[in-house]
Amino acid sequence: MTLSAIHLRLLTDLVADLPVAVRLQRLVGSLRAHFACGAVAVLKLEAEHLRPVAVDGLVSDVLGRRFAVKDQPRLAAILQRRGVTCFHHDSVLPDPYDGLLAERGRESMPVHDCMGMALDVEGERWGVLTLDALEVGTFDARARDELAQLACAVEAAVRVTRLETEIRGLRLAGSAWSAETATPLETGEILGQGEAITRLLHELQVVADSELPVLLLGETGVGKELFAHRLHRQSRRAGKPLVHVNCAALPESLAESELFGHARGAFSGAVSDRPGRIEAAEGGTLFLDEVGELPLSIQAKLLRTLQNGEIQRLGADRPHHVNVRVIAATNRSLRDLVRDGAFRADLYHRLSVYPIPIPPLRERGNDVLLLAGRFLELNRARLGLRSLRLSVDAEDALRHYRWPGNVRELEHVISRAALKAVSRGADRKAIVTLEPDVLDLDAAQMPAGAAPMLLGQEECAATASRPASMHEAVQNSQRQAIRQALALHRDNWAAAARQLELDASNLHKLARRLGIKAPSAAGSRVRAA
Ligand SMILES: Nc1ncnc2c1ncn2[C@@H]1O[C@H](COP(=O)(O)OP(=O)(O)OP(=O)(O)O)[C@@H](O)[C@H]1O
Ligand SMILES: [Mg+2]
Repeated sequence: MTLSAIHLRLLTDLVADLPVAVRLQRLVGSLRAHFACGAVAVLKLEAEHLRPVAVDGLVSDVLGRRFAVKDQPRLAAILQRRGVTCFHHDSVLPDPYDGLLAERGRESMPVHDCMGMALDVEGERWGVLTLDALEVGTFDARARDELAQLACAVEAAVRVTRLETEIRGLRLAGSAWSAETATPLETGEILGQGEAITRLLHELQVVADSELPVLLLGETGVGKELFAHRLHRQSRRAGKPLVHVNCAALPESLAESELFGHARGAFSGAVSDRPGRIEAAEGGTLFLDEVGELPLSIQAKLLRTLQNGEIQRLGADRPHHVNVRVIAATNRSLRDLVRDGAFRADLYHRLSVYPIPIPPLRERGNDVLLLAGRFLELNRARLGLRSLRLSVDAEDALRHYRWPGNVRELEHVISRAALKAVSRGADRKAIVTLEPDVLDLDAAQMPAGAAPMLLGQEECAATASRPASMHEAVQNSQRQAIRQALALHRDNWAAAARQLELDASNLHKLARRLGIKAPSAAGSRVRAA
């Protein structure tokens, strides 16, 4: 593509009515095609981190990662100066995308071209654009010059994206909108780009601005606490306190004084007047977490607060007025609790004026990889690893798993697998690739066809007749054939290759890809012993 052709393409996209995520995605795709390179990424600067917002040629979990500028000298150098920054192919500076190229055959990027450019929007540094090419010499003087000439078009695309995001937010939320509380793409806090989460975040933004009580519903670990904090942050009460009360942790004997406070002399030990948690939330938000566990005796008092905005400290003569908004959360069915007499129906109706169900992780499609990316990056940094990634099979396993513990479980699975990798001697300076078995997922929570990727040989054979997709069916039978051949020839790989009519080196490669064989020299693959 000539320079004027790519210019025209970027310009055409600029005037087209495209969804925000698609616009930047098309931008990186066009740039990758023009420069004929391995990967292109746009990263947004957020405090001390750079967050990828559109990538082409990199594994999809990169969109869930954040790169600390202080740990990434290449990104820091690009960010620092206006114009194009290039890195010589033998630069020793670590590469942020090491091991993250989508082209799985390439384990590492030891020798490659890299260039990038800082992006400014409205006079401020907004982020960076990076380009990586595996072929040395791809980014010659002409390519660098062309990138410099494309700077305006790239910045215009980013600026339009930002404006569109703001306009959409204004339409949805009226004057309460601020650029700081944009889509997940913009905030980076609640991760998720799928339809379920995007819709939920829009709804949250609208309801945040109202004074209605909100009831957050969802299984354990779906992020109810995270959403409650976001609701508060986006509300007009953001400058006032958010008081978090964990109702499950309140012993009945102390609950009343804890929530409503007490007057001096109310009970032995009450040596002075003391305000409760509800008063501490004055002007702000009271977050009643695990509200289903609230003792019945307290429920009646709370109802009065919700109805009249009044509280009465334990032992006090008169009630007084409070101004709090209530957000409640539960992973139990309040309706069932009402039916069983464990929860007051009138309080339930007060709390559930605006119920918001939060979808479980298994209904969020590819967002599971996005979240995995964030947790991989956190663990990589925490453990001081050069690169931490998932194998293709591990990605498949995460996508298929039912996630009874939702995002919290995913967080634990990745942290545990990373730790296991290190404790089994993974080389911190190599690319550590996590295989399905090190994830240690509960096979009972796998759909039948996807289970073999977690199982041993015998179990695999037992379930191999129920694959979920053609791709899995092929992989399962390849695994089985290789294992059988190896067993027959007592782990003699050359003999097994002959029997399978494969070239020995191809057999090694295939076995590695299928998670049967241990690490290659290029990177550590971690498997259960
Ligand atoms: N969309 C998300 N993006 C990033 N992190 C998330 C997301 N959803 C949940 N988490 C993380 O998952 C963990 C569990 O979330 P949280 O504690 O809010 O769940 P919960 O719904 O309150 O669960 P429980 O009912 O067990 O209290 C937290 O560490 C949270 O930060
Ligand atoms: Mg919680």
